[in-house]
Amino acid sequence: MTGSTRGFGHDTTTDEVLEGIDLGGRLALVTGASGGLGAETARALASKGARVVLTVRDLARGEEVADGIRKSTGNASVECEELELGDLASVRAFAERFLARHDALQILVNNAGVMACPFGRTSDGFELQFGTNHLGHFLLTGLLAPALVGGAPARVISVSSRGHQQSPVVFEDIGFEERAYEKWAAYGQSKTANILLAVELERRLGARGVHAYAIHPGVIPTDLSRHMEPEDFEHVRRRSGGRLRLKTVESGAATSVWAATAPELEGRGGLYLEDCHVAEVNDAEGATEGVRSYALDPDAARRLWSVSEELVGQGFAL
Ligand SMILES: NC(=O)c1ccc[n+]([C@@H]2O[C@H](COP(=O)([O-])OP(=O)(O)OC[C@H]3O[C@@H](n4cnc5c(N)ncnc54)[C@H](OP(=O)(O)O)[C@@H]3O)[C@@H](O)[C@H]2O)c1
Repeated sequence: MTGSTRGFGHDTTTDEVLEGIDLGGRLALVTGASGGLGAETARALASKGARVVLTVRDLARGEEVADGIRKSTGNASVECEELELGDLASVRAFAERFLARHDALQILVNNAGVMACPFGRTSDGFELQFGTNHLGHFLLTGLLAPALVGGAPARVISVSSRGHQQSPVVFEDIGFEERAYEKWAAYGQSKTANILLAVELERRLGARGVHAYAIHPGVIPTDLSRHMEPEDFEHVRRRSGGRLRLKTVESGAATSVWAATAPELEGRGGLYLEDCHVAEVNDAEGATEGVRSYALDPDAARRLWSVSEELVGQGFAL
């Protein structure tokens, strides 16, 4: 692995990544900040002076997180906003409110996600994992792009997963209309989409100082496992080749924070990061590290962008 010059690795924490970094004057937006990795990412960025906007589905829960951040940071500027990524009207309404208040955004962390849930659909009829994890964030990012360009240098972080190794984007049947629903394939497809979005955003916006990254945070016990059955834990253990190393939330959010701030990444993007490093392509069967080449494929990234525009019913001339 390459890219970190500070000896960071699996157990590095958010605070270690941010040591000596001043985020004063920067605005950060973190989706899915009601707990888990999102709340820690927001806390860490705020602790270094960033103004932070948290998006949550449950405002009461979000306000508790925001209060906790204010207390732990000596009154950082934290706003909390409602956003349901499985409802494109909610994404549009949030983006409108955000843009009315802010014309410049430096850090967008597309963190919210669902994993391995039973078959379901978003309000707009899309398969739940693709609709929430990818399409909601695609629309959000497209709508906020003017603020990212206005705030450049800016960074967009897609919180993907090693789970992307379980499926490319199956363009012929994204919605599981023709094939039987398989929850891990659906999660994998949505997490590959997160990486392809970073690749295409980099191509479209990199020259304007907006760089995009996809990250795997590690394996962290959070509420993400809410849909997992005992056999799913076995599935995860098997896929890790029996070498499952858990992370704390502080280490799990470290790669997001590294992507958002690392001087080592200045001026480049379209990269997949894990353990605070740039990961290498790894197509070996059973591989547990690295990124599949299908997830970095520029043609698939362009195709996903135009398919996503069609699905959300809105084009972005970026
Ligand atoms: N934990 C891991 O081991 C791991 C590994 C690889 C990748 N990841 C990725 O890391 C990210 C964060 O996960 P986590 O581990 O912190 O899990 P988490 O604690 O379950 O947090 C997920 C967040 O996403 C929000 N969310 C879910 N569905 C949403 C929707 N439809 N609209 C808006 N927000 C929604 C949740 O809000 P509510 O509280 O309202 O549900 C919550 O704030 C996810 O993208 C996940 O795929 C995690």
